[in-house]
Amino acid sequence: MQCVQSPIIPVVGELIRSNPGTISLGQGVAYYGPPAEAMGYIDRFLANPENHKYRLVQGIPELLTAIEEKLKRENAIHIDGSNRIVVTAGGNMGFVNAILAITDPGDEIILLLPYYFNHEMAVAIADCKAVCVPTDENYQLQPDAIRSAITDRTRAVVTISPNNPTGAVYPESALREVNEICGSNGLYHISDEAYEYFTYDGARHFSPGSIEASSKHTISLFSLSKAYGFASWRIGWMVLPEHLYMAVKKIQDTILICPPVVSQWAAVGAMKVGAEYCREKLQMTAQVRQIVLDELKSIADFVTVPRADGAFYFLLRVKSDLDSMELAKRLIEQHRVAVIPGMTFGMEDGCYLRVAYGALQKETASEGIGRLVRGLRRILAG
Ligand SMILES: Cc1ncc(COP(=O)(O)O)c(C=O)c1O
Repeated sequence: MQCVQSPIIPVVGELIRSNPGTISLGQGVAYYGPPAEAMGYIDRFLANPENHKYRLVQGIPELLTAIEEKLKRENAIHIDGSNRIVVTAGGNMGFVNAILAITDPGDEIILLLPYYFNHEMAVAIADCKAVCVPTDENYQLQPDAIRSAITDRTRAVVTISPNNPTGAVYPESALREVNEICGSNGLYHISDEAYEYFTYDGARHFSPGSIEASSKHTISLFSLSKAYGFASWRIGWMVLPEHLYMAVKKIQDTILICPPVVSQWAAVGAMKVGAEYCREKLQMTAQVRQIVLDELKSIADFVTVPRADGAFYFLLRVKSDLDSMELAKRLIEQHRVAVIPGMTFGMEDGCYLRVAYGALQKETASEGIGRLVRGLRRILAG
């Protein structure tokens, strides 16, 4: 565990606490909570005393059915015997389940730079090696670079679209290419789709699990955390090849036994409301995104904002020799605004900062981003 990086969110959280009044553009959470219907379904949980006992490892049948229908309707992923659904306690758990199921110690997992820090940590915890492949200047996939990183020990390529920390949305053609590289090299394609509904300006989300004949090598991870404001309820799911089903059940049985059943019932209620809930909330996030983009234009001389049509992040490239952690620290201490340093995501070739705007509403957005822009101007000019 000494080789595993420490999660930065608590470190930034501590700095925020010791600098009261700080506005956080740090944590990746939605500004809203679950729909009322989710709470209504807790009555169904309470109606059956059996629900207080352990339930199925893979999830309650009612939720599995709701997920299966959603996947068919929205993602063109069909559950047909070649693949299975396992409900997890969130997307992170789905990722850990996947890594433990497909690797031996010493195996390699290809992550794209910048990576999502918990993915890198999970690979290290499994005693495997994260092989980091760069993306291009707009944080888009470079399939040739992925091909060249494959060795005898590679087990999987991980993509996240829409992306954390960059907000990039990968086009269907690029995801198809990566899926094909995986299929033809005997690798798994792990596709993290936690932000599937969060796209802007006409960008479209694509699920690699919908590609014909991809189900034997594709592991798709989903989460209710962002879409339904469900972060603390801990519900997500994985779609995995049938041949990994027993392995994942062993892992999940050992770590969790079953996802919290009260949360699963709430999830059934949330999914009855469906994607419309998120789409409506997204209108506010889209407006906040525009405010952030407009404000950042005023410091274009020393801050580049690569195109980001998804999730609720921008990964700024800052013209500065400062270490990204030092810059983030100064922003909190001197300007009372928090962002996450790029080094957390493996970006060490320059100074990067992740701005998260999902938790903001219009009123707080202007103040928060205003502080960031003024702070960067002062620090970088000084
Ligand atoms: C890409 C990505 N995957 C997974 C997660 C974790 O989500 P969950 O709450 O479902 O574990 C996050 C959370 O920030 C994320 O950004």
